[in-house]
Amino acid sequence: MSGRSEPLVLGIETSCDETGVGIVRGHTLLADAVASSVDEHARFGGVVPEVAARAHLEAMVPTIERACVTAGIAPSDVDAIAVTAGPGLAGALLVGVGAAKALAIGLDKPIYGVNHLAAHVAVDQLEHGPLPERCLALLVSGGHSSLLRVDDITQSVVQVGATIDDAAGEAFDKVARVLGLPFPGGPHIDRAAADGSITIDFPRGLSSRRDLERHRFDFSFSGLKTAVARWVQARADAGEPVPVADVAASFQEAVCDVLTRKAIDAARDSNIDCLVIGGGVAANSRLRALAEERAAAHGIQVRVPRPGLCTDNGAMVAALGSAVVAAGRRPSDLALPADSSLPVSEVLV
Ligand code: KG4
Ligand code: ZN
Repeated sequence: MSGRSEPLVLGIETSCDETGVGIVRGHTLLADAVASSVDEHARFGGVVPEVAARAHLEAMVPTIERACVTAGIAPSDVDAIAVTAGPGLAGALLVGVGAAKALAIGLDKPIYGVNHLAAHVAVDQLEHGPLPERCLALLVSGGHSSLLRVDDITQSVVQVGATIDDAAGEAFDKVARVLGLPFPGGPHIDRAAADGSITIDFPRGLSSRRDLERHRFDFSFSGLKTAVARWVQARADAGEPVPVADVAASFQEAVCDVLTRKAIDAARDSNIDCLVIGGGVAANSRLRALAEERAAAHGIQVRVPRPGLCTDNGAMVAALGSAVVAAGRRPSDLALPADSSLPVSEVLV
């Protein structure tokens, strides 16, 4: 492997609206180039798949070139190409998988099609070093919200819970819209909440005793979103001003309360003492604070990568690729498909 012990891996991520190309050697991050089409989706209030796929196509080559320049390598130096094979938007994934195959063939290097969710967990190794043998991961973004039990990041990841409707970030984005805040709404709600108080008792999804029997570690945010919209509408109907900061703080608390309570319960249930949080919503200040506080009470360590590594990026794909190569796993077939609903149990396709 290029005469060194640790694999040099280039990772490509295109599952949503970020074109990411990352380069890592072992657990060391050498480059993390990201081009986002988020501005092109803003006026629609959500990611438009066709727009995202076209943007990936335009950004792919310049982003690969930028990553190689930053890392100070030539593409032919890499030991392997890793790419997000799923889950994600079908058309968007196809662009990344196609580009990775072209590189693998052109450079005569092995290709590893990896799972986007597992990559969100693996990326923390670039920030905080090797993961403990077992950890519990809470992944919260605009596209996914899940609790994963990671027994071995290169081959054994089990989903213990997931949202049954909206993703956590989606709820932030929809509530922001109701409050007249820009897209993506998460950071704006986070900021607005800092000036508000938790004065409204919004519902905690799937937290009643009956719901917990069937959905102990699952999430639901659509009822909460509706409750906020109704509350705001009632205020407007009464001709009263909407206390945006208080609504933001109360909504944020309802989301973070459920996320952290279920994450800590799931960790304790599996006797795990390390919680990794990833995805765009991991940037939320209240989520981080509440997770730290509740985890500490049970002797659980919390690991959250820096915000740039929490959102979708190529470094996370390269990080998982590098772990998979180091573990001696077999490369994917060159005919590997892009699978928009790839289950998390398939770390490597
Ligand atoms: O991981 P990401 O960049 O893309 C995917 O959705 O996969 O996550 C974006 C999501 C958006 O819904 C955004 O509103 C949310 O993460 N987000 C936040 C914060 N920063 C980003 N949500 C709450 N608080 C934040 N500070
Ligand atoms: Zn993601």
